[in-house]
Amino acid sequence: MLFGQKLHPLNFEYGRQIAVRKGAIEVAGRSFQARITCAEITPHCTRLRFENSHVADSRNYSDAVVEPLRAGRAVAPQRGSPTFSTAACTIEVGAARLKIRLASGATLETTEDGFGFNGEKAIFCFQTATATGYYGFGERTKRFNKSGDSLDFYNVDVGAVFPHTFQRDDYDPAYVAIPLAIVRAGGHCFGLFMDNPERLIFDVGQIAPGQLLCQSLGGNNDLYLLDGPTLRDVVRHFTTLTGRAEVPPLWSLGHHQCRWGYKTAAEFRALKENFRQCDIPVSALWYDIDYMDEYRVFTWDRVDMPDPRKLNEELRRAGIRSVAIVDPGVKLDPSYAIYESGRKADVFCKTASGRDYVGRVWPGDSVFPDFPTPAARDWWAGHLATFIAESGLDGAWLDMNDPATGWSCPEDMCFEGGTAPHAKYHNQYGHFMARASRQALEQLDPHARPFLLTRGGCTGTQRYSAIWTGDNASNWEHLRMSIPCTINLGLSGVAFNGPDVGGFFGHTDEELITRWYQAGFLFPFLRNHSTNHTKEQEPWNFGPQCLARIRDAVVTRYRLLPYLANCFFAHHLTGDPILRPLLYEFDDAAFENLDDQFMVGASILVAPILECSAVCKSIFVDGVKRQQRYITLPEGWWFDLLAGEWVAGGRTLLYSACLDEVPLFIRDGSILPYFPGKFQNSAMKLTRIELHTFLKERSAQLDYYIDDRETRRYLTGEYNTATIRAEIVGPEVALHLAETGPLPPGTVKFAPVLYGGASATASLTQQGRRVTRQLAPATRRWVGTDVAVRA
Ligand code: GLC
Repeated sequence: MLFGQKLHPLNFEYGRQIAVRKGAIEVAGRSFQARITCAEITPHCTRLRFENSHVADSRNYSDAVVEPLRAGRAVAPQRGSPTFSTAACTIEVGAARLKIRLASGATLETTEDGFGFNGEKAIFCFQTATATGYYGFGERTKRFNKSGDSLDFYNVDVGAVFPHTFQRDDYDPAYVAIPLAIVRAGGHCFGLFMDNPERLIFDVGQIAPGQLLCQSLGGNNDLYLLDGPTLRDVVRHFTTLTGRAEVPPLWSLGHHQCRWGYKTAAEFRALKENFRQCDIPVSALWYDIDYMDEYRVFTWDRVDMPDPRKLNEELRRAGIRSVAIVDPGVKLDPSYAIYESGRKADVFCKTASGRDYVGRVWPGDSVFPDFPTPAARDWWAGHLATFIAESGLDGAWLDMNDPATGWSCPEDMCFEGGTAPHAKYHNQYGHFMARASRQALEQLDPHARPFLLTRGGCTGTQRYSAIWTGDNASNWEHLRMSIPCTINLGLSGVAFNGPDVGGFFGHTDEELITRWYQAGFLFPFLRNHSTNHTKEQEPWNFGPQCLARIRDAVVTRYRLLPYLANCFFAHHLTGDPILRPLLYEFDDAAFENLDDQFMVGASILVAPILECSAVCKSIFVDGVKRQQRYITLPEGWWFDLLAGEWVAGGRTLLYSACLDEVPLFIRDGSILPYFPGKFQNSAMKLTRIELHTFLKERSAQLDYYIDDRETRRYLTGEYNTATIRAEIVGPEVALHLAETGPLPPGTVKFAPVLYGGASATASLTQQGRRVTRQLAPATRRWVGTDVAVRA
């Protein structure tokens, strides 16, 4: 089936006879027999399994759900009735209809002919006439709310499949398949997750307005029902089911620099020097494919890169980490040791004819590790671990694993020694590559926090790797799109993600790169990356003013790293994403479509300028051109950092910002942990933290997580929680800090900084000691700038 095509509901047969038998409900038609079983997975999640007699292989190939939740508790139909009841919902199965009533109040029904089969293919047509929002769906282009859209789940190398769409932002599918639909109807949210690794399509009102169609092209279908009622509830339940990212190493939350075309050790030394001279922090430099010996994975070009280990040690001394790309395509070359070792170990994917499958990627003819098998993962992990250790690298970048196979037909690639058809693992190829690569990092040091970045992935990949959103373009449409894309990926469980800042294809310019850094400076992942033969995109290529603007944005990110790192820690505990739509924090229909502004954590609202000054409405103030945009502020008070004053929310404002500025608002009742000290790129010790406190009418509470920032010991409870409460008491802001946990208390020293001028005095009580500070009112433009007195 081609992209853009779908399954027509009229080509399916829907059930007519129904029987309750042996703990299951059987539905049959002339052409099929289906068996439906139910399991309670958690108190908020129920699974319905649809087994179709036409699917000969009943094995579940999916690695989406975390191991402990795979079985669930079997729930039999109620006596004498085709109804299942779990803690999260009641499901009534009719001959051709499903009626679902979720505990939180939402109801969902299929249409009259609502679930049907056509050979191996299955279709589910739900009535969603009252739905006003559809979210999630993994990595997607276009807008945040997918109402009226159609979404295909089949990972592709976008550049190869849709070469004409770089100027547009509407290609579909992309590199990551996560078939999660979060539906908002009547103010309630609930989730439908179709766990089937084969190609699926969700159509949310394009074929039939007011209907949600889930279509699967093969295999059996596990439908997980996730209860709400809020967006936050659904995301938390979904990430309980499919896992959450571990807390990343601190350096990986910094600023990254990459470009396809960096080739020699001298270039990397020059980059290090340029970042130092330009005074722009950079936490990692990235090696794209040109570091390799003719694109042979796990090799270095020894002419251009004579001693990578020495180079990486040099970078590390400057606080700069290094990450190298590794592609799955292994050059088919009998004189190449890695190829020979894989061939001998018989770990490459096969065709139906029993030969090693050959694709055509960077090294020319290439074979591909059969990642779904433990043997291939062990083989890959062994080589990757050796390569990382010998090269002194800090992480790996997993690319072309959608899988990209060039002009060679990917469907010829079979798995598990040629026994599993391509469709079973196509969407999971990048995921299993990430799993194998994670094994390598754990092999090297089981205690260190791993860092991997992948392009291809599927549900659950966040357990192993961060994701970047692939080859975008240097234009305003792609900048604009990066916000809903990162947000929907976050709602789909992948909190640690981001786009190529500045855009990959095409030439960026001073204005676009400035606005992109300003929009992206608090994205979970921040990497400047571009393709070769385009305008050089490092921050110093656009003149001194632009450099200063980028510096402001990047330095502010570093100052706020304790805040970001804390969001990541909280994500690990709760599933809450880093970048959030306003709807996540403010459950109000007014925010159902809002995607040109966003929250970072619960406190910071970013409303970047996303239009070029040539088209954006502008005004001149004191001779300076300012771009205008509308900003919606939810109810309550917001501290406007550009104006340095409180503004009332519950309204939409026409706002303006010159090229130096990004509109930033802090929610009343916020405490932002802020790093005031010295640092050199990624080398920073978070032992002194300022508590930037924004109180107008609300009190605030922050749970700040403290651990060693380097190891995975927090996974076994080795972290403290500093709970800071701030309230206005008469003329003073009082902060109370209580630290709990197994680590010695007091390793982090806190000091308050007040914003907003409501009070001039802050007192901080820590371990029974009360310290009072006189504070000057602050501040302008960025969090932390121009704060005159720090406690
Ligand atoms: C792919 C990647 C891109 C990388 C290029 C060369 O297009 O998506 O990021 O620079 O390959 O390796």
